[in-house]
Amino acid sequence: MSVSTATATAAAPSVRAPLPVLGLDVTVPLASGGEVTYAALDYAASAPALQRVWDDVAAYAPYYGSVHRGAGYLSQLSTDLFENARRTVAEFLDCRTGDQVLFTRSTTDSLNLLATALPDGCEVFVFETEHHASLLPWRNARVTFLDAPRSHRAAVDTLERALAGRDPHGPALVCVTGASNVTGELWPVRELAAVAHAHGARIVLDAAQLAPHHPVSVRELDVDWVAFSGHKLYAPFGSGVLAGRTDWLDEAEPYLAGGGASRRVARRQDGGVDVEWHEGVARHEAGSPNVIGAHAIASACKALGSAGFDALRAREERLIRVVREGLADVPEVRFLSLFGDDAARVGVLSFVVEGWKSPSFAAALSGSYGIGVRDGLFCAHPLVRVLTGAEGECGSADSLGAIRVSFGAGTPDEHVERFVRAVRELV
Ligand SMILES: Cc1ncc(COP(=O)(O)O)c(C=O)c1O
Repeated sequence: MSVSTATATAAAPSVRAPLPVLGLDVTVPLASGGEVTYAALDYAASAPALQRVWDDVAAYAPYYGSVHRGAGYLSQLSTDLFENARRTVAEFLDCRTGDQVLFTRSTTDSLNLLATALPDGCEVFVFETEHHASLLPWRNARVTFLDAPRSHRAAVDTLERALAGRDPHGPALVCVTGASNVTGELWPVRELAAVAHAHGARIVLDAAQLAPHHPVSVRELDVDWVAFSGHKLYAPFGSGVLAGRTDWLDEAEPYLAGGGASRRVARRQDGGVDVEWHEGVARHEAGSPNVIGAHAIASACKALGSAGFDALRAREERLIRVVREGLADVPEVRFLSLFGDDAARVGVLSFVVEGWKSPSFAAALSGSYGIGVRDGLFCAHPLVRVLTGAEGECGSADSLGAIRVSFGAGTPDEHVERFVRAVRELV
């Protein structure tokens, strides 16, 4: 594998992407010999870094210093940068006054953090269609798994029925994805939030797949929390976000116990330790924070904001049409969908190919065309089973899995065109 500017120039994308990303000139070997520029079509797993994010990180790197500890100039500068990143993310998410932005490692980490902050007796309601990161963290709560709905209306009705019988004074949380990591389909988040609140429940939005493609307004959607990951938002430096209400978080034990989360620690006469924990963001951000990760996320938020989601979405919808229309007359290809072919979606599409096992098909896309996609069950086993109608063992991706192609603001047209040509040729 090599990085070759010469190859990149020769294979210049037909239409450039709205936001430049790293890696467009990376070449990869083909099974038949020779090399081709890599077509990264697995944005739903991890998107390439935006050039701007990389530049911003590189510009800051010489000034790197400790955050919230240290009187030196660079420590002060790094602390400011970290806290400014918080403000940028709050603006990006259109948070309410009083909401807080916590930096975590990822969406998985954010939802696990929230899971540790559920009040006693909290019930959790989650559709079986969720990514495992949304499905599984609620181990200490009473969880109700809701059946896969086949329309937005059905989703709202299912939640309504599930919440109807509960005591509205007891704590409850609904966890819902904004855009499916399998089908790319958008979920009726605002409507689900209204149902949750009408029944005295809170709602957390898993925006891992939504935030890179779509504006997310905490205020307008009226969700209580939102979680997303930097590495899916073109900022792969190990940070994620949990933003939203403070009350449950302030009442909970710190997610991590350690320096930064503790206001006062004193040894007791009996040999034990008394600890007074901070409230607010410090309570759940013990240890030295990942300032580069936070800075990278803030940089990506600004870049996406400047490009404008309307323009980004219009182009992405065109690329979705290129895929759908380009494969419409290939009967062996069946796209997976919960809400129907016309449902609004982001640039994430999964499909099965008659006569092919998904791992072999994905390997052929890589080996013969230099295209990187994902195959398998996409950490959403119950959903893929519903969509493929498959029975069988959990995790048996070979027999049950599908192929997923996903793209975004850094994808040149040529990558998607190459993908369509490749699928047609392979089939
Ligand atoms: C919808 C959704 N939620 C959560 C996650 C987990 O994200 P992370 O692996 O960054 O924690 C993913 C990752 O694919 C996802 O697609």
